[in-house]
Amino acid sequence: MIIQQARPEHLDGILALEQDGFSDAEQWSRHAWAEELEADDRLVLAHTDADGSVIGVANFGCVEDMADLNRVVVHRNARGRGVAAQLIQAGIDWAEALGATRMLLEVRTDNDPAVGLYSRLGFDRISLRRDYYGPGLDAVVMLRPITETTGGWDEATDWALTSA
Ligand SMILES: CC(C)(COP(=O)(O)OP(=O)(O)OC[C@H]1O[C@@H](n2cnc3c(N)ncnc32)[C@H](O)[C@@H]1OP(=O)(O)O)[C@@H](O)C(=O)NCCC(=O)NCCS
Repeated sequence: MIIQQARPEHLDGILALEQDGFSDAEQWSRHAWAEELEADDRLVLAHTDADGSVIGVANFGCVEDMADLNRVVVHRNARGRGVAAQLIQAGIDWAEALGATRMLLEVRTDNDPAVGLYSRLGFDRISLRRDYYGPGLDAVVMLRPITETTGGWDEATDWALTSA
């Protein structure tokens, strides 16, 4: 499996993940994802398998010292194997290289897999946003300090991470 910067040819695969991972109301559109791919202050990482299919995607932003984890989704057949953790670690490395000192995210309080994953990766709950996703759908805000990491981000290299 390979992690790479997502390109327009990955859009179909990314949208398939959206449909697999989120309810209709929560899904991002093709247009929204296309804009994310083009934005200078965003990073979209695609995790692809041997035949090039996108099995995971994550989206990050970074402004000055604050980075954001905006989205992560992994195909249901590939979950529990560390795909999301690898994508998020790569995003943290990218943000650190840009000078970010913190990464912030919001997640639904009832999304146990995501909250569990973020906690395991060092994100702490810092506040609650009531009705953030609609009536009765609260968000927990989580923050992770960005400290020295073992990886690195080199924009000149269309780099790849190989995993087991
Ligand atoms: C959240 C999501 C991205 C995790 O992807 P993943 O590739 O399975 O995650 P990883 O394999 O890297 O990490 C698994 C970790 O998630 C956590 N986790 C998974 N299922 C869990 C559950 N039911 N309850 C609590 N924690 C859980 C654990 O910390 C687990 O670590 P462990 O394997 O050491 O126990 C995936 O479930 C998904 O795509 N969900 C739908 C989209 C979504 O909700 N995205 C997040 C909001 S944008």
